Amino acid sequence: MQTANLINGQWTHGGGDTFGVINPADDQLLAEVPMSGRQETLAAIDAASEALAPWQERTARDRADVLHELSRLLLEQAPRIGRILTMEQGKPMAESLGEIGYAASFLDWAAEEGCRIYGDTIPASSNNKRILVLKQPVGVTGAITPWNFPVAMITRKLGPALAAGCTQVIKPAEDTPLSALALGELACEAGVPPGVINIITGDPVAISDAMLGDPRLRKLSFTGSTEVGRILMQKASTNLTRLSLELGGHAPLIVFDDADLDIAVAGTLACKFRNMGQTCISANRFIVHDSIHDAFIQKLQDSVSALVVGNGLHEGVHVGPLINDPAIEKVQQHVDTAVASGATLVCGGSTTPIESMSDRFYQPTILMDVTPEMLICQEETFGPIVPVVRFTEDDEAVRLANATPYGLAAYFFTNDASRVIRVSEALEYGIVGVNDGAPSTAQAPFGGVKHSGYGREGGRYVMDEYLETKYVSWQFTD
Ligand code: SIN
Repeated sequence: MQTANLINGQWTHGGGDTFGVINPADDQLLAEVPMSGRQETLAAIDAASEALAPWQERTARDRADVLHELSRLLLEQAPRIGRILTMEQGKPMAESLGEIGYAASFLDWAAEEGCRIYGDTIPASSNNKRILVLKQPVGVTGAITPWNFPVAMITRKLGPALAAGCTQVIKPAEDTPLSALALGELACEAGVPPGVINIITGDPVAISDAMLGDPRLRKLSFTGSTEVGRILMQKASTNLTRLSLELGGHAPLIVFDDADLDIAVAGTLACKFRNMGQTCISANRFIVHDSIHDAFIQKLQDSVSALVVGNGLHEGVHVGPLINDPAIEKVQQHVDTAVASGATLVCGGSTTPIESMSDRFYQPTILMDVTPEMLICQEETFGPIVPVVRFTEDDEAVRLANATPYGLAAYFFTNDASRVIRVSEALEYGIVGVNDGAPSTAQAPFGGVKHSGYGREGGRYVMDEYLETKYVSWQFTD
């Protein structure tokens, strides 16, 4: 297993402090990795700056070939990387394999988008002039990525950056650096030149300060909490560093009275129990029409009772451990305060003991009689909890859904076509799933509004995040 930083094509331990990576399922120490800071970050930016011109000079098709090769290697080695991912992050092996496929799809999609970066010519206001619009890579970029999708959230930034002709310095999350380093090894094998990709593990504050304090780093893409996004935004003001921020969510999921309940339950399972509910787009508030409320709860309970909780490496497991102790404490606090304020526990409500394992396994939980003012409806839970609120009128459901500063993803289930349009337009979110609990895909623009951040990842839309628009006004001299 690779445990060193990747800087300028070299694997380097640096000889300084290290920190341990723990398996959340059983507390086993998996590895020690460098506790890098300012010095390593500046070395990585040096390497990325040196590598920039030769990488930009390659043709878009050349760069695409390298990205496709990285994708191919990632898929070929999915069982090995998936195992590392499950051990450091906890998600069931089937989900880790799914994440590797998702990660590879961002590389392939971006590789092709990079071959279709078009400029413009604009009719000028005089005959002896021509106006050209060029799209050029922004330069050295940074990526700070989260622990919940440790491979896919890197490739979603790396693919378009490299396809556009940028180089990148990546800081993976402290909980999950090992799958990122494994990806770095594959990048070297795929023919990514030294310095084009650099990966440094370590202190998030020291690394992000060094990134944003260095004017050579022209853009930073961050996925993580709104709180940290705000801090990065303040620090980015020094060098006016461009930012993409994919921040917290607090997704509503509305079930209207005409919904197909089997589809609504399948959608709930897909978006709530994926990664144990630790997904920015997981539904957090279930807003269910009064007339189908009891039937929905019954069907959901039947499905939830079939979910197997356990070590993600074991066959047949659907729900692994949460990432760490604070995650468990937060989930328990949300459940306890809801019950203390009048919510009814339908199932779950506590951790579940598993032999020889840690106590980070939380039972899939359903709460009913939840009201909007409860903490669980105010804050993102990031756990396998379904809190259900009742409604009677469409306007009320949309008002409840929009009653949050966040705006990443929202879901609703209905068979009424005019309602599909009305509600999709009224929801203040960047992503809307209609009868669909799994909207994420490489070809679509992923991102939020309001306190969920700005910028889009995926599809053709992401390319602009890594491109500058230059206008050339050309006056003839003869
Ligand atoms: C996230 O949780 O930030 C990403 C989820 C996704 O891409 O579906």
